[in-house]
Amino acid sequence: MTEHRSPDAKFRTSLLEENAGPATNPTNNRTMGEIIAARFSRRGFLKGSLAVSAIAATVSPLALVSADQARAAEGSAFAFDELEAGIDDKHHVAPGYDADVLLRWGDPLFADSPEFDPTKQSAQAQAKQFGYNNDYVGYIAIDGSAEHGLLVVNHEYTNPHLMFPGIVKIVEKDGKKSADVAPLSKEQVDVEMAAHGGTIVEIRKDGGKWQVVRDGKLNRRITSNTEMALSGPVAGHDRVKTNADPLGTKVFGTFNNCAGGVTPWGTYVMAEENIHGYFSGELPEGHQEAANYKRLGIPEGAYEWAAHYDRFDLAKEPNEANRFGWIVEVDVNDPTSTPRKRTAMGRFKHEGAESIVAKDGRVVFYLGDDERFDYAYKFVTSGKFNPNDLAANKDLLDDGTLHVAKFAEDGSVEWLPIVFGQGPLTAENGFASQADVLIETRRAADLLGATKMDRPEDIQPNAVNGKVYVMLTNNSKRKADQVDAANPRAENAFGHIIEIAEDGGDFTATTGKWEVLLKCGDPAVADVGATFSTATTANGWFGMPDNCAVDSAGRLWVATDGQSPKTTGRTDGLWAVDTEGSARATSKLFFRVPIGAEMCGPLFAPDDQTAFVAVQHPGDGGEDWEAFGRPSYYEDLSTRWPDFKPDMPVRPAVVAITKQGGGKIAV
Ligand code: FEO
Ligand code: CA
Ligand code: CA
Repeated sequence: MTEHRSPDAKFRTSLLEENAGPATNPTNNRTMGEIIAARFSRRGFLKGSLAVSAIAATVSPLALVSADQARAAEGSAFAFDELEAGIDDKHHVAPGYDADVLLRWGDPLFADSPEFDPTKQSAQAQAKQFGYNNDYVGYIAIDGSAEHGLLVVNHEYTNPHLMFPGIVKIVEKDGKKSADVAPLSKEQVDVEMAAHGGTIVEIRKDGGKWQVVRDGKLNRRITSNTEMALSGPVAGHDRVKTNADPLGTKVFGTFNNCAGGVTPWGTYVMAEENIHGYFSGELPEGHQEAANYKRLGIPEGAYEWAAHYDRFDLAKEPNEANRFGWIVEVDVNDPTSTPRKRTAMGRFKHEGAESIVAKDGRVVFYLGDDERFDYAYKFVTSGKFNPNDLAANKDLLDDGTLHVAKFAEDGSVEWLPIVFGQGPLTAENGFASQADVLIETRRAADLLGATKMDRPEDIQPNAVNGKVYVMLTNNSKRKADQVDAANPRAENAFGHIIEIAEDGGDFTATTGKWEVLLKCGDPAVADVGATFSTATTANGWFGMPDNCAVDSAGRLWVATDGQSPKTTGRTDGLWAVDTEGSARATSKLFFRVPIGAEMCGPLFAPDDQTAFVAVQHPGDGGEDWEAFGRPSYYEDLSTRWPDFKPDMPVRPAVVAITKQGGGKIAV
């Protein structure tokens, strides 16, 4: 792990998110993604130079709109003028809106935070500044205000080739160029560890514009070294004990916090997703965790943390990886509080944790496991939400029932309880307790016969229409004989969205009905099989749904991960998607990110007057020479968004979108 990761090694990029997964396609058939890629590369996007002038390609709207299409669009819940899709080095929002950068990587959060200097970055400075690769964004009101609150933001991962000067060298061998990446120093690894985790920061709207309150008394950084407690059924179990924590109750840090949620009682929950990349080394021969770790792809070894910290080396600390892959809950009202890993909610590659209070007062959390052929879950608390005493809810997440979804061909869904002693979850299959079941949640769900999905990402309950929306990013490895009703496309390059209606409108129900809201991709290519309404323009379609939000009017907004010159000929962005009436499955582009980025967040302020979005890994493009013409790295970036200064690298940032002249977004 200390040798050079080159010349054949990849940059550590968002590709880690694609999660090769346990299932692989042994055929050499072209995938749908490759077929579409060939189509877009014929258009000549980004060939040759990555000069900004050469990457301003845009897609034109359809020239003709039929009378039928116009009628369908009339029923749309979204009134804004659509943004044009395309690719360049900047962010863009629909006409009539402002999209202002609010918080960038390195921005100071405390009175004593050093100003950001990328050439002299230290772990100490980074721990007092906004972290890298902002993903989930949540808002927790202060005194019920829609204009003064805490913004909570996850920092999912780090891209060293974009963060650190001097580590990438382009080398040429036998006429072929490749990128040589130097190993990181311990100091750089420490910066990475401090750039992960989350930020809690006070923000306030003044004169219609959001401002960060530097040194707000609740401001906090959570990093990969913050002390946390394991709580719930797994706390204290032998399988989570380590040399540093012989009691199995205290963990240092959290990482790869992807999406998340804010609970009805005002805490911040962070989902630990791709934890496999942080572990290296080999388990001792015959170790009991071998099958458990294999199911999660541990160790993947993309990060070099194990070279400097023994706990990430499986040979030295074989149980440490069982202490990650959980949902972490943070009490934001006390910056000295100990975050708690809520083990009752299962251990897998957690995407998000959006919640809703059910009719009987129990709280339901929807949870995706983002990997090809993995599952959709929900957790139902045993206790009831107490709206009159928020502190009374503080341990609701330690006791409840985790369920996994089984989608049937007839349009019904069953939520199967994951409970020790029930069905196959017994000693016969190697489970001695609920702790064992939770540590190996995936294996338990395998045994229950859950439906293997096309990368379940955000799952969002909608309080207005009572439905639940499941984002399924893609799965190019699904073969024709693996297709089912809920995952209806082989080589699913562009993903789809499922809409669930729980029986009786009861979110705790163990049965429901479902249908596919939308199959994504370019509707102009028949083979893709996309199902956007005919009112959707050439700008309005998208691929790879990932994060999503529902505004207080109950309207769905979808953010994407994976669009590029190569896949869809456009950048990622935020699309407004109609779910009701004749406009159902009509989609419109509202915001788009600069080249190389993925769209995270999104989040609407409680008054719907601001949309917060997170621009993650701008300027990334890995070593995808075909798509980008050359790799993008610190010294030679595809964009210097958002500062556009020659001495400042590209910086992931949260953007606040408001309507010019004020008012609600999109009405
Ligand atoms: Fe981190 Fe599944 O996106
Ligand atoms: Ca995500
Ligand atoms: Ca993602």
